[in-house]
Amino acid sequence: MKTFFVTGGAGFIGSAFVRLLLEEYDDCRIVNYDALTYAGNPDNLAGLNPDRHRFVCADITDPEAVLANLDENTDVIVNFAAESHVDRSINSAAEFLQTNIAGTQVLLDAARARGVKRFVQISTDEVMGSLPEDDDKFFTEASPFAPNSPYAASKAAAEHLVRAAHHTFGLDTVVTRCGNNYGPRQFPEKFLPLALANAMKDDSIPIYGDGRNVRDWIYVEDHCRAILAALEKGRAGAVYNIGARNERRNIEVAEALLDALGKPRSLIKFVKDRLGHDRRYAIDPSLAETELGWRPRETWATGLEKTINWYRENGPWIEKVRNLAYRDYYKAQYGTEVTVD
Ligand SMILES: NC(=O)c1ccc[n+]([C@@H]2O[C@H](COP(=O)([O-])OP(=O)(O)OC[C@H]3O[C@@H](n4cnc5c(N)ncnc54)[C@H](O)[C@@H]3O)[C@@H](O)[C@H]2O)c1
Repeated sequence: MKTFFVTGGAGFIGSAFVRLLLEEYDDCRIVNYDALTYAGNPDNLAGLNPDRHRFVCADITDPEAVLANLDENTDVIVNFAAESHVDRSINSAAEFLQTNIAGTQVLLDAARARGVKRFVQISTDEVMGSLPEDDDKFFTEASPFAPNSPYAASKAAAEHLVRAAHHTFGLDTVVTRCGNNYGPRQFPEKFLPLALANAMKDDSIPIYGDGRNVRDWIYVEDHCRAILAALEKGRAGAVYNIGARNERRNIEVAEALLDALGKPRSLIKFVKDRLGHDRRYAIDPSLAETELGWRPRETWATGLEKTINWYRENGPWIEKVRNLAYRDYYKAQYGTEVTVD
């Protein structure tokens, strides 16, 4: 039996990962440790087997709480917990430094204290900065760190701490760096679910700048399978870039969603660009493909269809999220009201 300590497992990717673990391992035990910030949602964990999945509402920056919930026989810590939205980090960076940097160090210390066998850090392609547009350059594991937002800088700092724990103390660590995820249960402050939820209500879709910024999109379950492969087969101390070779301009993403929903493209509304907005992210996932034997299962078309279907079938989930503090956030960010039932 394998024991996992998953942090941030009530968020978008963490909850998908917890579900995947329960599917893939008949006999695993999971402690899902999440502070339930605005982004954490207990509804994301509905229906999970309580015999194998224990939810703990606590903060990764609290060393006593982490140690109290981390068993001696834990096999793996997977650290998803983070402040994850770039725009919020531009408005205020303090929480990002606290959770993403200090919180990661608390977990690394606890892993050593409890003799945890492996520590998996979920990082992002954003630590490598921005690539030139219309170029054939890609991020590789050897690309230099060049974070451009407070969010990316805090995730880069966390990676440095993970590296230091491996180098100095011999902690068995693996880092995965992924591009933009999409799929069920993503908080609609992020571009794709925001565009989708707005379009479903005939609200306009705000697009920063000229809409030509490029992101490398991956279906969330494919990302989670890559994390599982890294967890099982990754080299100690290694970093793996995870991507589905799926670069899209933001405008293309909005158009694809509108076309699929049968809504007019006139719903697209260009708004003032994000400060310091990175132009292009593009990942070379060759190392993960060759060393981990991982490949994405979904194409852009199938992943998008699954995502749209999920949001169509889960209206109450969206409405609940959009009714909470999100309304104030949206108004402050875009200057308009969001439609809720
Ligand atoms: N979403 C993406 O496209 C993407 C891409 C690459 C990497 N990542 C990384 O993947 C991870 C998960 O991203 P996500 O999109 O699921 O984020 P999310 O914002 O949906 O979820 C984050 C979760 O962490 C929890 N959390 C926040 N602060 C905490 C704290 N101090 N203690 C305990 N729990 C805390 C929240 O309650 C929430 O459940 C993050 O580390 C992020 O940097 C995300």
